[in-house]
Amino acid sequence: ARLFDFIVASNRLPVDSVVNADGGQGWSRSPGGLVAALEPVMHSHDGAWVGWAGEADLELDPFDIDGLHLVPVRLSAAEVREYYEGFSNDTLWPLYHDVIAAPSFHREWWDAYRAVNQRFADIVAAVSAKGAVVWVQDYQLQLVPKMLRELRPDLTIGFFDHIPFPPYGLFSQLPWRTHVIEGLLGADVVGFQRDADAGNFAQAVRRLKGYATTGSRIEVPIVDESPGVRVFSPIKRGAPSRTVIAKKFPISIDADIYRAAAKDPGIRARARQIRADLGNPAMIMLGVDRLDYTKGIRHRLQAYGELLAEGRINPTEVILVQVASPSRERVKSYIDLRDEIELTVGRINGEYSELGHQAISYHHHSYPREEMVALYLAADIMLVTALRDGMNLVAKEYVASRFDDDGVLVLSEFAGASDELTRAIRVNPHDIDGLKDAFMRAVEMPHDERRSRMRYLRKRVFDNDVEKWSNGFLEVLAHHRHEKDTRS
Ligand code: G6P
Repeated sequence: ARLFDFIVASNRLPVDSVVNADGGQGWSRSPGGLVAALEPVMHSHDGAWVGWAGEADLELDPFDIDGLHLVPVRLSAAEVREYYEGFSNDTLWPLYHDVIAAPSFHREWWDAYRAVNQRFADIVAAVSAKGAVVWVQDYQLQLVPKMLRELRPDLTIGFFDHIPFPPYGLFSQLPWRTHVIEGLLGADVVGFQRDADAGNFAQAVRRLKGYATTGSRIEVPIVDESPGVRVFSPIKRGAPSRTVIAKKFPISIDADIYRAAAKDPGIRARARQIRADLGNPAMIMLGVDRLDYTKGIRHRLQAYGELLAEGRINPTEVILVQVASPSRERVKSYIDLRDEIELTVGRINGEYSELGHQAISYHHHSYPREEMVALYLAADIMLVTALRDGMNLVAKEYVASRFDDDGVLVLSEFAGASDELTRAIRVNPHDIDGLKDAFMRAVEMPHDERRSRMRYLRKRVFDNDVEKWSNGFLEVLAHHRHEKDTRS
């Protein structure tokens, strides 16, 4: 089998299933930001991507797509239920997002999570050349770093957590919390979105393992690899240890792609068309989210509905466009959320829409990037009201698209993006009155203020794009590897 020097592992491969001309199944590269970010590294090194193709029981050989080497990991239907929908998205996801929904703890789900993580580790180990660099992505694969290190101590291993890492008071609910911490500590570098996430992780390490942490450095004792032998914490002074770096690397987007798309005459025409199709309202507000309970869609609708009820917003002048892209549709909390959101949208529209003027234009779809950029250009106000969000790239996409320096971003302080985008109108989405005031402030904001804020936001997004993120992470990883080599 072919061996690679640089391997990315993520739950999903960056592909979408398509129907070929002959009616068979084919694959197209998905336009995700992560692929765009990693593509240059993939090409300059001998890179491969290990992940699940998104369907149960698919037996696929490794294949290439647009010069990207993909190594599929098979998941059975039971594993999709227990590892992906269950443990990843009904245990970890709600637990790591402030228990906005109640996490379910099931031992069978944990067993499946462990088994699938082991499969990922086995496959990565099998395709990695000696001394390769492996970059593991996100909460679905937290045990992979340790499993991989045990199989292949020669590898340099990075891990990036795209979602929040919860405060210890919440994390400690997880029956398997110590295994998760040990899994992550198998990496050389563990990256997070915000300082707060790295801090929460370091605290969990101290509380559960007793290891010392200094700034972003964690000293992890080198455990005797023979089975059954454990090192007792706290570590004895002078015991041999390895350093794990845990710090923030805020992720971003390929900002140039959004700027270029927004400047495209076809897309600008499409933006005008969208305005016209909506009846040329004075003001378009826009929400774009995966249909997920972490996104605060309910709170946004509540605030908007009250503004309509109080007559502060006139539904013939303002429209809210809400794109809610389908997500994790077999998980109960997502099914319930969809019912709730669609009921609320129906009620608000029933109450305030007039013939030819909808209060809310709601779309349970996902759209290609071109259409999203046209929507961003058409929207006077972008509403990002997440209750908790690792980063929220939609906020950055909106900013990157506004080459005209116009548009207002309303941004939740509970989204990672809020650390950087400090001149957005920042809101606490739980505070409905505060949210309403923020919406009105956005509606009434003078043109000069919109411009000066947007210019600042654009500078932040363009100065910190996704290339900086991936290079920044990989440099720290490479430096760490160099330190390790010169020590041994
Ligand atoms: C979040 C996670 C990703 C995940 C994505 C879509 O952004 O951090 O790991 O891929 O949501 O969710 P899905 O469950 O469809 O992969």
